[in-house]
Amino acid sequence: MTHRSEIRFLLNGRAVSLPQVPASQTLLDFLRIERRLTGTKEGCAEGDCGACTVLVGRLHEGALRYEAVNACIRFTASLDGCHVVTVEHLSGRDGALHPVQRAMVEHHGAQCGFCTPGIIMSLYALWMQTPQPTETQVETALQGNLCRCTGYAPIIRAAVAASQYGTPEADHLTLERDRVTAELTALKDGRRVETGPDDNRSILPADLDDFAAAYAAHPQATVIAGSTDVGLWVTKFLRPISPAIFIAHLPELKSVEVSPEAITLGSGVSYSQLQPLIAEHLPHLSEYWDRIAGWQVRNMGTIGGNIANGSPIGDTPPVLIALGAEVTLRHGAARRNLPLEAFFIDYGKQDRRPGEFVESIRIPLPSPATRCAAYKISKRRDEDISAVAAGLSVTVKGGMITDARIALGGMAATPKRAATAEAALQGQPWSEATFATAARAMSEDFAPLSDWRASADYRMRVAQNLLRRFFLEQDGLPVRLSA
Ligand SMILES: Cc1cc2nc3c(=O)[nH]c(=O)nc-3n(C[C@H](O)[C@H](O)[C@H](O)COP(=O)(O)OP(=O)(O)OC[C@H]3O[C@@H](n4cnc5c(N)ncnc54)[C@H](O)[C@@H]3O)c2cc1C
Ligand code: FES
Ligand code: FES
Repeated sequence: MTHRSEIRFLLNGRAVSLPQVPASQTLLDFLRIERRLTGTKEGCAEGDCGACTVLVGRLHEGALRYEAVNACIRFTASLDGCHVVTVEHLSGRDGALHPVQRAMVEHHGAQCGFCTPGIIMSLYALWMQTPQPTETQVETALQGNLCRCTGYAPIIRAAVAASQYGTPEADHLTLERDRVTAELTALKDGRRVETGPDDNRSILPADLDDFAAAYAAHPQATVIAGSTDVGLWVTKFLRPISPAIFIAHLPELKSVEVSPEAITLGSGVSYSQLQPLIAEHLPHLSEYWDRIAGWQVRNMGTIGGNIANGSPIGDTPPVLIALGAEVTLRHGAARRNLPLEAFFIDYGKQDRRPGEFVESIRIPLPSPATRCAAYKISKRRDEDISAVAAGLSVTVKGGMITDARIALGGMAATPKRAATAEAALQGQPWSEATFATAARAMSEDFAPLSDWRASADYRMRVAQNLLRRFFLEQDGLPVRLSA
């Protein structure tokens, strides 16, 4: 079958077909510069401020689902087969304000207005999913939207009141749903897309096997999943990414299987997609999960990307290593499995050869005898990178510790297990004294660095105290805030 050479998607009410899309073109530049849709703003160009928030709808297992995303770090080429909705699409044909916009006006939710379109789009996504949100739900939806002058109180009041001005049943996107679903279905032709100039080329594989073949043939290519890391390589560092292989559209990489023993997920599963399963099967991770980035980034960013980027401060590796997760790597048709901790060899070095990719991740579910926790220490509560992240899984039988897995991020050049602290727990009684000994032993496991996020001393102290906190919390004892 011949390749297609244009990217096709729906933009608001129109079909768009773009030949020669450069791989590094962002959706924000396309909207503002090429389409003059200037309601979508550029604040930071790095996924932090939310001024560029738009909705992207994609078919998943036949159902159309819209999510708020950051247009500044989303590449135009990745939108093949999607419906992009900008703030211009909100008001009715008669120019009437949308219920979310009316609520923002009536509750004085805007001052300078620069952040406002992005806030409106995040609240629009929330209103469609949860028309009558709690304040906490509003705060979670707005984690990725910064407003520096109004203050959030009127915005939250507007969000809570939005359904008084109209309900999602009468909204454009609800009324158009069948038509948009049919149009997006018609766009799927099962072909690989190759487009863009030779020095800025995009490849969208037809399916997973085609991805494996394309990457094996172009091992120098940049694989792009959610683009929440790669987007910044382009907007902040002007790095070339060609040829780029986009994989966010591949349904095989979005699959999730749950068995009594484990959750197995494709590497392209996003944080938001996994969130309900985390709440159901790994509830100790729920709060931690909501502290990864902001809502827009969680809608785009993938677990596979968080592993493959090899960062020592990624939030998922420590908690997944503590649970005993394994990754499946694939090169062409060949696959191999390895424990996640073995994937990280050294700073910037992973056990992954050219043309090999992360295909899936298997997370064993803890037994009832295993006590688990996850901790994130960062300067800001929301939308911040960890100074230290920790995952702990400790199995206790008859009052004795029979197994202990403790993994930390931010303490070494890679996410790493605390082998000496684990050994100090193994075979010992579950007691405060055992955990105090293990906390002291941890100083042999790590020699952390000082940087602008935290000093080496702080990192070590906090890691040791997290071990003590784990013991106290598990026993329902008060957690002392001073050591
Ligand atoms: C504002 C903001 C806040 C953030 N906050 C956090 C945070 O709190 N915690 C945190 O851990 N991270 C955070 N991040 C970083 C980022 O969101 C995560 O690392 C995310 O999981 C990356 O996934 P992605 O799909 O977007 O990766 P991409 O940007 O698409 O790719 C990242 C890297 O992985 C490679 N890659 C992706 N998928 C595969 C695959 N299947 N096989 C092989 N290689 C692959 C890419 O080639 C690239 O090298 C934040 C980012 C932003 C912009
Ligand atoms: S411009 Fe700030 S998040 Fe996109
Ligand atoms: S209204 Fe948001 S920064 Fe001013």
